[in-house]
Amino acid sequence: MTFDVRTVVDDMLDRTVVLGYGRTGYALRSRGWTPLPPQALRGRTALVTGANSGIGKAIAAGLAELGAAVTLVVRDESRGAEAAAEIAASGSGPRPGVERCDISDLADVHRFAADFVERNERVDVLVHNAGVLPAARTESPQGHEICLATHVLGPLLLTERLAPVMAGGRVILVSSGGMYTQPLPTEDFEYKTGEYRGATAYARTKRMQVALLPTLSDRYAAEGISVHGMHPGWVDTPGVATSLPRFRTLTRPLLRTPAEGADTAIWLAATEVPSGRFWHDRRARPEHYLRRTRESDADRERLWRYCAAVAGLPER
Ligand SMILES: NC(=O)c1ccc[n+]([C@@H]2O[C@H](COP(=O)([O-])OP(=O)(O)OC[C@H]3O[C@@H](n4cnc5c(N)ncnc54)[C@H](OP(=O)(O)O)[C@@H]3O)[C@@H](O)[C@H]2O)c1
Repeated sequence: MTFDVRTVVDDMLDRTVVLGYGRTGYALRSRGWTPLPPQALRGRTALVTGANSGIGKAIAAGLAELGAAVTLVVRDESRGAEAAAEIAASGSGPRPGVERCDISDLADVHRFAADFVERNERVDVLVHNAGVLPAARTESPQGHEICLATHVLGPLLLTERLAPVMAGGRVILVSSGGMYTQPLPTEDFEYKTGEYRGATAYARTKRMQVALLPTLSDRYAAEGISVHGMHPGWVDTPGVATSLPRFRTLTRPLLRTPAEGADTAIWLAATEVPSGRFWHDRRARPEHYLRRTRESDADRERLWRYCAAVAGLPER
């Protein structure tokens, strides 16, 4: 049996969670990385949702720096314009475009996708980064629990609508290490029963993103579209400051910068790797650490059937 010390240390960092997900893990692992070729994405187009702040803005800047023509997909155009100006001023690359879309609103996703496809010939990289961790249970305009709508239903519909112009492209879902704590809620995808906790809703829907990777990977294989999941680690962002102020106070010295959290998504956009897997710090990672979170194929199928039906995705 071969024994790769670096891989064993890397795995141990994840088991400690704090070291693996924080800046220490990034600092240790990134020492061994080969820099991405300059202009690796020249001539490519990329869309990043929720790109006006935090990790999404850093992903957009990183893709622009590699030469991609980037569009920030945001729900507040003026904040999107500020982010685009900031990225351009930092010298990261061409100034990104800005488009408005509320990813949790299926009607708005339809509107945006139809309009975008009419004006643009292709999309090479689609990063589903928009995320929420709500204080109380709220619903999308179509009546879906807001984490489900934002993290799962909107991204599924946007991917489906853009697939015709994405041949050979890459879809990246920004999930979270929080998903390791939750199984698929197969009896209650909409979190209608039990005491609602935003952190649980968040982690459940991040679990759903990862559970859907093989199905999505198969669904778009004929077009050569690869689908990847990743988690950024623990990152100091406006979202964490607002939604998890106590966590941030306790862990602040350990947190990654947005650029560090964005690294694996940028790397996936520029690197040929197998479709359908879950990544962190440029390595495929296990989807489960706990036996109680494991799902069956039937559970995954049930999730897919539910989401495809309510998002209006056709059979293929
Ligand atoms: N920070 C971490 O430690 C961490 C860890 C694991 C995973 N993540 C994931 O990383 C992603 C980015 O998070 P972040 O920490 O950078 O948080 P953030 O600073 O709050 O950024 C989230 C972005 O998503 C946007 N957004 C939310 N709902 C939207 C919707 N319905 N339509 C369009 N845009 C929407 C937000 O727009 P507004 O500004 O308009 O609200 C914001 O731009 C999320 O998916 C999060 O789950 C973060």
